[in-house]
Order: sequence, then C-alpha cells, then structure tokens
Amino acid sequence: MIIENLKKQKQSILNGDFELVYSTEIMALSNQHWTPSDVIKETLNFLCIKENSKIIDIGSGVGKFCISGAVLKPKCSFYGVECREKFVDISIKIKDDYRIDNSYFINRDFSAIDFNNFNGVYFFNSFQENIDDKAVIDELSQLSYDLYCRHNQNLYLKLNNMPEGTRLATYQTNDIFIPNSYKITENGFETKLKFYVKNNDVDKNTSIYEN
Ligand SMILES: C[S@@+](CC[C@H](N)C(=O)[O-])C[C@H]1O[C@@H](n2cnc3c(N)ncnc32)[C@H](O)[C@@H]1O
Repeated sequence: MIIENLKKQKQSILNGDFELVYSTEIMALSNQHWTPSDVIKETLNFLCIKENSKIIDIGSGVGKFCISGAVLKPKCSFYGVECREKFVDISIKIKDDYRIDNSYFINRDFSAIDFNNFNGVYFFNSFQENIDDKAVIDELSQLSYDLYCRHNQNLYLKLNNMPEGTRLATYQTNDIFIPNSYKITENGFETKLKFYVKNNDVDKNTSIYEN
C-alpha cells in the first residue's frame, strides 16, 4: 500500500501535479512563487542539452524545479540553493522519500555558491520579495532596496564569470540584471520565460556593473 502510494505520487511529479506531494500550506504559495510545470518542462529541454549537465536553481524554494528536473532528466543533476531552511528541509524530505538521487539542496544565500561548478542556471526572480510588498513570502522577507541591488549585482558578476556556452533560463525577470555577454535565443509564455547562451565576444563596456 505504501509502495503503491509512493508510485502514484512519483507519477504525479512526472505529470506536473504536485498537489499530492506538497502540503496545502505550501501549495497556497504556488501560483505566485513556484514555477508552473509547463514552464519547467520547456526550460529543461533548453538547459539539459547534454547528458550530465549540472543545473543550479538560484532560490530553489521547496524544490519544485529541481525535483521535476531530476525526475524528467535523470541523466542530469539539479542543485537548489535556498536561503530559507524550512524550504530546504521540505525539498530534502521529498528527495529522500522518492529517492530522487540526482537532486541536491543547500541552505545558503546564493552569493556563497561557486557558479563555475554548473553549466546551466535557472532563475525565477528570487529577489522580488526585497522590493515588492505583494511578493512577501513570510516573516523572513526583508523589504530593502539596498539588499535588492546587492543581490542583483552579485548575480550579475557571478553570471558574467561563467564560461562561454553557459545556458541561462529566467522566468519573470527583467533583462537589465543579465550581463550583455548573455544573448537571448528564445522566449515564451508571453515573454515571461527567456533563454540565453553566454557569448564572451560581446562588448562588456555597456554593462551596468562593470564600468
Ligand atoms: C520565486 S521563488 C522560486 C522558487 C523556485 N525556484 C521555483 O521556481 O519553484 C524564489 C525563492 O528564492 C529564495 N531566495 C530569495 N533570496 C535568496 C537568496 N539571496 N539566496 C538564496 N535564496 C533566496 C526565496 O526564499 C524563494 O524560495
């Protein structure tokens, strides 16, 4: 019976139906804070062009992107970095319960992570909670324009240091925070989803952070 339930729930992840996996409290945040499953599927096809690709989700929330990715692209590995411990605990519990071995979660600020360990990056506008009171997640959300700028600057510099060919997918994120060295190759979902590939030939002098 337990095994049957586990199988049913893993199938629900494959179908993009997370109702059975997350609690109602977590699902209540879904519309605004977790990437929709059809967006995840499209993104995985772009980021995982090679077997053994290593993908990082910056601000991985309760692990929806990484868990879906690990199930749908079993030859790639997915790494979630998330600043809220309770979300990381939820992600790790699901990963362990369903034995999703190619997903990993770490409870850190993204700025502590070396991006050069990865060849693909996913980013769903994680710093919006710092400037928008409608994007507040919980009591840990801190409204601070300074913090917002610092996070964006850090992200910009980390992305800009990654090697040529790095793939980046952003969802609901403003282009101005993405280095010019990343060229848009495609967009979708009413331009909310954007795909970029890094090209080091681009003139860096127009960047907002590096002059
Ligand atoms: C919009 S949610 C996206 C969740 C997940 N990527 C997804 O698509 O389902 C953004 C997440 O980023 C996390 N976050 C915000 N600032 C962060 C930071 N500086 N370092 C790590 N995580 C951060 C928040 O706690 C939140 O869970």
